[in-house]
Amino acid sequence: MVKAKTNDPFRLDDKVALITGAGRGLGRAMAIALAHAGADSVLVARRKDDLDETAKAVKKAGRKAIVAPGDVTDASVAPQAVAAAIREFGRIDILINNAGMYHMQAIEETDADNWRAVLEVNLMGPFRFAKACGEHFKAQKSGKVINIASVLGTFGVAEATSYCTAKAGVMGFTRSLAVEWAPHGVQVNCIAPGLFNTDMSAGVFENQEFYDNVVAGIPRGKHGEPEEIAGTVVYLCSQASNHVVGQVIHVDGGATIA
Ligand SMILES: NC(=O)c1ccc[n+]([C@@H]2O[C@H](COP(=O)([O-])OP(=O)(O)OC[C@H]3O[C@@H](n4cnc5c(N)ncnc54)[C@H](OP(=O)(O)O)[C@@H]3O)[C@@H](O)[C@H]2O)c1
Repeated sequence: MVKAKTNDPFRLDDKVALITGAGRGLGRAMAIALAHAGADSVLVARRKDDLDETAKAVKKAGRKAIVAPGDVTDASVAPQAVAAAIREFGRIDILINNAGMYHMQAIEETDADNWRAVLEVNLMGPFRFAKACGEHFKAQKSGKVINIASVLGTFGVAEATSYCTAKAGVMGFTRSLAVEWAPHGVQVNCIAPGLFNTDMSAGVFENQEFYDNVVAGIPRGKHGEPEEIAGTVVYLCSQASNHVVGQVIHVDGGATIA
Protein backbone atom coordinates (compact mmCIF):
# COMPACT_ATOMS: atom_id res chain seq x y z
CA MET A 1 0.00 0.00 0.00
CA VAL A 2 1.34 3.45 -0.97
CA LYS A 3 1.55 5.74 2.08
CA ALA A 4 1.52 9.56 2.13
CA LYS A 5 4.97 11.12 2.13
CA THR A 6 3.83 14.75 2.37
CA ASN A 7 0.98 16.89 3.67
CA ASP A 8 -0.06 17.48 0.09
CA PRO A 9 -3.67 18.80 0.31
CA PHE A 10 -4.53 16.94 -2.88
CA ARG A 11 -3.65 13.51 -1.41
CA LEU A 12 -6.47 11.14 -0.41
CA ASP A 13 -4.44 8.61 1.57
CA ASP A 14 -6.60 6.04 3.38
CA LYS A 15 -9.84 7.75 2.36
CA VAL A 16 -12.65 5.47 1.20
CA ALA A 17 -14.70 6.35 -1.87
CA LEU A 18 -17.97 4.86 -3.08
CA ILE A 19 -18.24 5.28 -6.86
CA THR A 20 -21.39 4.43 -8.82
CA GLY A 21 -21.12 3.59 -12.52
CA ALA A 22 -17.57 2.41 -11.85
CA GLY A 23 -17.60 -0.47 -14.35
CA ARG A 24 -16.24 1.47 -17.29
CA GLY A 25 -15.88 4.92 -18.84
CA LEU A 26 -15.56 7.93 -16.56
CA GLY A 27 -16.33 5.92 -13.39
CA ARG A 28 -13.41 3.56 -13.99
CA ALA A 29 -11.07 6.50 -14.73
CA MET A 30 -12.20 8.14 -11.47
CA ALA A 31 -11.54 5.00 -9.41
CA ILE A 32 -8.02 4.73 -10.84
CA ALA A 33 -7.32 8.45 -10.27
CA LEU A 34 -8.52 8.25 -6.66
CA ALA A 35 -6.33 5.17 -6.13
CA HIS A 36 -3.26 7.04 -7.41
CA ALA A 37 -4.14 9.78 -4.92
CA GLY A 38 -4.31 7.17 -2.11
CA ALA A 39 -7.99 6.20 -1.79
CA ASP A 40 -9.60 2.77 -1.55
CA SER A 41 -12.94 2.30 -3.22
CA VAL A 42 -16.28 0.52 -3.30
CA LEU A 43 -17.38 0.04 -6.89
CA VAL A 44 -21.04 -0.09 -7.95
CA ALA A 45 -22.58 -0.94 -11.36
CA ARG A 46 -24.75 -3.75 -12.65
CA ARG A 47 -22.12 -5.79 -14.50
CA LYS A 48 -19.77 -7.57 -12.08
CA ASP A 49 -17.18 -8.50 -14.73
CA ASP A 50 -16.68 -4.81 -15.56
CA LEU A 51 -16.37 -3.98 -11.85
CA ASP A 52 -13.77 -6.73 -11.43
CA GLU A 53 -11.71 -5.12 -14.22
CA THR A 54 -11.90 -1.74 -12.49
CA ALA A 55 -10.96 -3.35 -9.15
CA LYS A 56 -7.93 -4.92 -10.84
CA ALA A 57 -6.86 -1.49 -12.14
CA VAL A 58 -7.30 0.05 -8.67
CA LYS A 59 -5.13 -2.68 -7.13
CA LYS A 60 -2.50 -2.07 -9.82
CA ALA A 61 -2.50 1.58 -8.71
CA GLY A 62 -1.66 0.41 -5.18
CA ARG A 63 -5.02 0.56 -3.37
CA LYS A 64 -7.88 -1.75 -2.38
CA ALA A 65 -11.24 -1.99 -4.11
CA ILE A 66 -14.30 -4.09 -3.39
CA VAL A 67 -17.16 -4.58 -5.81
CA ALA A 68 -20.82 -4.11 -4.86
CA PRO A 69 -22.78 -5.05 -7.98
CA GLY A 70 -26.27 -3.62 -8.23
CA ASP A 71 -28.67 -1.30 -9.98
CA VAL A 72 -28.81 2.25 -8.57
CA THR A 73 -32.57 2.25 -9.16
CA ASP A 74 -32.97 -0.58 -6.63
CA ALA A 75 -33.59 1.03 -3.22
CA SER A 76 -31.67 -1.72 -1.39
CA VAL A 77 -28.41 -1.21 -3.33
CA ALA A 78 -27.19 2.08 -1.82
CA PRO A 79 -27.53 0.98 1.84
CA GLN A 80 -25.89 -2.35 0.97
CA ALA A 81 -22.95 -0.63 -0.74
CA VAL A 82 -22.44 1.72 2.22
CA ALA A 83 -22.66 -1.25 4.62
CA ALA A 84 -20.01 -3.04 2.52
CA ALA A 85 -17.72 0.01 2.80
CA ILE A 86 -18.10 0.11 6.59
CA ARG A 87 -17.60 -3.65 6.90
CA GLU A 88 -14.51 -3.75 4.70
CA PHE A 89 -12.83 -0.41 5.46
CA GLY A 90 -14.54 0.84 8.64
CA ARG A 91 -15.44 4.19 7.08
CA ILE A 92 -16.67 6.12 4.08
CA ASP A 93 -15.37 9.56 3.08
CA ILE A 94 -16.33 10.18 -0.53
CA LEU A 95 -19.41 9.55 -2.65
CA ILE A 96 -19.24 9.92 -6.42
CA ASN A 97 -22.68 9.74 -7.99
CA ASN A 98 -21.59 8.90 -11.52
CA ALA A 99 -23.94 6.17 -12.83
CA GLY A 100 -26.03 7.56 -15.65
CA MET A 101 -27.96 6.69 -18.78
CA TYR A 102 -28.51 8.74 -21.94
CA HIS A 103 -31.83 8.79 -23.73
CA MET A 104 -33.05 10.49 -26.90
CA GLN A 105 -36.71 10.55 -27.90
CA ALA A 106 -39.10 13.19 -29.18
CA ILE A 107 -41.35 14.39 -26.38
CA GLU A 108 -44.50 13.22 -28.19
CA GLU A 109 -43.13 9.66 -28.26
CA THR A 110 -41.85 9.71 -24.69
CA ASP A 111 -44.25 8.00 -22.33
CA ALA A 112 -44.23 8.34 -18.57
CA ASP A 113 -42.30 5.08 -18.13
CA ASN A 114 -39.49 6.25 -20.49
CA TRP A 115 -39.32 9.55 -18.64
CA ARG A 116 -39.32 7.91 -15.19
CA ALA A 117 -36.59 5.42 -16.19
CA VAL A 118 -34.18 8.24 -17.10
CA LEU A 119 -34.92 10.16 -13.91
CA GLU A 120 -34.63 7.00 -11.80
CA VAL A 121 -31.02 6.36 -12.85
CA ASN A 122 -29.73 9.91 -13.22
CA LEU A 123 -31.58 11.69 -10.41
CA MET A 124 -33.08 9.17 -7.96
CA GLY A 125 -29.77 7.25 -7.90
CA PRO A 126 -27.81 10.24 -6.48
CA PHE A 127 -30.64 10.89 -3.99
CA ARG A 128 -30.58 7.30 -2.73
CA PHE A 129 -26.79 7.13 -2.39
CA ALA A 130 -26.55 10.55 -0.71
CA LYS A 131 -29.18 9.46 1.82
CA ALA A 132 -27.30 6.24 2.51
CA CYS A 133 -24.00 8.10 3.14
CA GLY A 134 -25.45 11.05 5.05
CA GLU A 135 -25.50 9.66 8.58
CA HIS A 136 -21.84 8.54 8.31
CA PHE A 137 -20.66 11.86 6.88
CA LYS A 138 -22.52 13.83 9.53
CA ALA A 139 -21.29 11.61 12.39
CA GLN A 140 -17.64 12.05 11.34
CA LYS A 141 -18.23 15.74 10.48
CA SER A 142 -16.60 15.31 7.08
CA GLY A 143 -17.41 14.00 3.66
CA LYS A 144 -17.25 14.82 -0.02
CA VAL A 145 -20.06 14.27 -2.50
CA ILE A 146 -19.42 14.72 -6.20
CA ASN A 147 -22.46 14.46 -8.44
CA ILE A 148 -21.83 13.93 -12.15
CA ALA A 149 -24.21 15.95 -14.30
CA SER A 150 -23.54 16.95 -17.93
CA VAL A 151 -23.23 20.03 -20.09
CA LEU A 152 -26.72 18.94 -21.16
CA GLY A 153 -27.90 20.06 -17.73
CA THR A 154 -26.87 23.55 -18.88
CA PHE A 155 -27.66 23.37 -22.62
CA GLY A 156 -31.03 22.46 -24.05
CA VAL A 157 -30.92 19.69 -26.67
CA ALA A 158 -33.88 18.74 -28.85
CA GLU A 159 -35.16 15.21 -28.23
CA ALA A 160 -33.09 14.77 -25.07
CA THR A 161 -35.57 16.35 -22.67
CA SER A 162 -35.58 13.59 -20.04
CA TYR A 163 -31.76 13.46 -19.86
CA CYS A 164 -31.38 17.27 -19.89
CA THR A 165 -34.05 17.56 -17.19
CA ALA A 166 -32.41 14.90 -15.01
CA LYS A 167 -28.95 16.49 -15.33
CA ALA A 168 -30.30 19.99 -14.58
CA GLY A 169 -31.95 18.33 -11.57
CA VAL A 170 -28.58 16.95 -10.49
CA MET A 171 -27.22 20.52 -10.48
CA GLY A 172 -30.14 21.74 -8.32
CA PHE A 173 -29.79 18.73 -6.02
CA THR A 174 -26.09 19.59 -5.63
CA ARG A 175 -26.77 23.18 -4.60
CA SER A 176 -29.52 22.37 -2.09
CA LEU A 177 -27.71 19.44 -0.51
CA ALA A 178 -24.54 21.56 -0.34
CA VAL A 179 -26.36 24.19 1.71
CA GLU A 180 -27.92 21.51 3.94
CA TRP A 181 -24.67 19.62 4.64
CA ALA A 182 -21.99 22.36 4.59
CA PRO A 183 -22.62 23.18 8.29
CA HIS A 184 -21.84 19.50 9.03
CA GLY A 185 -18.42 19.67 7.34
CA VAL A 186 -19.63 17.89 4.19
CA GLN A 187 -18.93 19.48 0.80
CA VAL A 188 -21.23 18.69 -2.10
CA ASN A 189 -20.19 19.68 -5.62
CA CYS A 190 -20.92 18.71 -9.19
CA ILE A 191 -18.93 18.03 -12.34
CA ALA A 192 -20.64 18.62 -15.68
CA PRO A 193 -18.65 16.78 -18.37
CA GLY A 194 -18.79 17.72 -22.02
CA LEU A 195 -18.13 15.12 -24.74
CA PHE A 196 -15.91 12.29 -23.48
CA ASN A 197 -14.88 9.16 -25.33
CA THR A 198 -16.86 6.40 -23.57
CA ASP A 199 -19.49 3.79 -24.42
CA MET A 200 -22.23 6.28 -23.58
CA SER A 201 -21.13 8.68 -26.30
CA ALA A 202 -20.41 5.98 -28.93
CA GLY A 203 -23.32 7.26 -31.03
CA VAL A 204 -21.56 10.62 -31.45
CA PHE A 205 -18.24 9.02 -32.40
CA GLU A 206 -19.91 6.73 -34.95
CA ASN A 207 -21.49 9.65 -36.84
CA GLN A 208 -18.62 11.70 -38.34
CA GLU A 209 -20.78 14.66 -39.38
CA PHE A 210 -22.44 14.89 -35.96
CA TYR A 211 -19.07 14.42 -34.21
CA ASP A 212 -17.48 17.23 -36.29
CA ASN A 213 -20.40 19.47 -35.46
CA VAL A 214 -20.05 18.80 -31.71
CA VAL A 215 -16.27 19.30 -31.76
CA ALA A 216 -16.69 22.57 -33.70
CA GLY A 217 -18.47 23.86 -30.57
CA ILE A 218 -15.57 22.94 -28.26
CA PRO A 219 -12.99 25.76 -28.05
CA ARG A 220 -10.24 23.27 -27.13
CA GLY A 221 -11.00 21.59 -30.45
CA LYS A 222 -11.21 18.02 -29.16
CA HIS A 223 -13.28 15.64 -27.06
CA GLY A 224 -12.09 14.58 -23.60
CA GLU A 225 -10.48 11.24 -22.80
CA PRO A 226 -11.72 9.64 -19.53
CA GLU A 227 -8.37 10.28 -17.77
CA GLU A 228 -8.91 14.01 -18.32
CA ILE A 229 -11.67 14.09 -15.71
CA ALA A 230 -9.26 12.74 -13.08
CA GLY A 231 -7.68 15.97 -11.82
CA THR A 232 -11.03 17.68 -11.21
CA VAL A 233 -12.40 14.65 -9.38
CA VAL A 234 -9.33 14.29 -7.15
CA TYR A 235 -9.40 18.02 -6.40
CA LEU A 236 -13.09 17.97 -5.39
CA CYS A 237 -12.50 14.90 -3.20
CA SER A 238 -9.51 16.47 -1.45
CA GLN A 239 -8.92 18.99 1.33
CA ALA A 240 -7.72 21.41 -1.35
CA SER A 241 -11.38 22.08 -2.22
CA ASN A 242 -12.79 22.41 1.33
CA HIS A 243 -14.04 25.95 0.66
CA VAL A 244 -15.67 24.99 -2.66
CA VAL A 245 -19.33 24.37 -1.87
CA GLY A 246 -22.27 23.64 -4.16
CA GLN A 247 -20.42 24.43 -7.39
CA VAL A 248 -20.89 22.99 -10.86
CA ILE A 249 -17.54 22.66 -12.64
CA HIS A 250 -17.89 22.16 -16.38
CA VAL A 251 -15.10 19.93 -17.68
CA ASP A 252 -15.91 20.40 -21.32
CA GLY A 253 -13.04 21.96 -23.26
CA GLY A 254 -14.91 25.26 -23.05
CA ALA A 255 -18.11 24.09 -24.77
CA THR A 256 -20.40 25.95 -22.36
CA ILE A 257 -18.56 29.28 -22.56
CA ALA A 258 -18.26 29.54 -26.34
N1 LIG B 1 -19.42 10.29 -21.94
C1 LIG B 1 -19.84 11.52 -22.05
O1 LIG B 1 -19.62 12.16 -23.10
C2 LIG B 1 -20.60 12.18 -20.93
C3 LIG B 1 -20.93 13.53 -21.08
C4 LIG B 1 -21.62 14.17 -20.07
C5 LIG B 1 -21.98 13.48 -18.93
N2 LIG B 1 -21.66 12.17 -18.80
C6 LIG B 1 -22.08 11.51 -17.56
O2 LIG B 1 -20.96 10.86 -16.96
C7 LIG B 1 -21.39 9.71 -16.24
C8 LIG B 1 -20.56 8.52 -16.70
O3 LIG B 1 -20.81 8.31 -18.08
P1 LIG B 1 -19.89 7.40 -19.01
O4 LIG B 1 -19.72 8.15 -20.26
O5 LIG B 1 -18.72 6.89 -18.26
O6 LIG B 1 -20.95 6.22 -19.29
P2 LIG B 1 -20.73 4.67 -19.64
O7 LIG B 1 -19.44 4.46 -20.31
O8 LIG B 1 -22.00 4.27 -20.30
O9 LIG B 1 -20.66 4.01 -18.19
C9 LIG B 1 -21.77 4.12 -17.34
C10 LIG B 1 -21.52 3.33 -16.07
O10 LIG B 1 -22.70 3.44 -15.27
C11 LIG B 1 -23.19 2.14 -14.98
N3 LIG B 1 -24.64 2.18 -14.91
C12 LIG B 1 -25.52 2.57 -15.86
N4 LIG B 1 -26.77 2.42 -15.43
C13 LIG B 1 -26.68 1.94 -14.16
C14 LIG B 1 -27.63 1.55 -13.19
N5 LIG B 1 -28.96 1.63 -13.42
N6 LIG B 1 -27.20 1.07 -12.00
C15 LIG B 1 -25.87 0.97 -11.74
N7 LIG B 1 -24.93 1.32 -12.63
C16 LIG B 1 -25.33 1.78 -13.82
C17 LIG B 1 -22.68 1.26 -16.13
O11 LIG B 1 -22.53 -0.09 -15.77
P3 LIG B 1 -23.67 -1.21 -15.97
O12 LIG B 1 -24.28 -1.00 -17.33
O13 LIG B 1 -22.93 -2.50 -15.81
O14 LIG B 1 -24.65 -0.98 -14.86
C18 LIG B 1 -21.30 1.86 -16.33
O15 LIG B 1 -20.38 1.32 -15.41
C19 LIG B 1 -22.89 9.58 -16.51
O16 LIG B 1 -23.62 10.13 -15.44
C20 LIG B 1 -23.10 10.41 -17.76
O17 LIG B 1 -24.43 10.89 -17.86
C21 LIG B 1 -20.98 11.50 -19.77
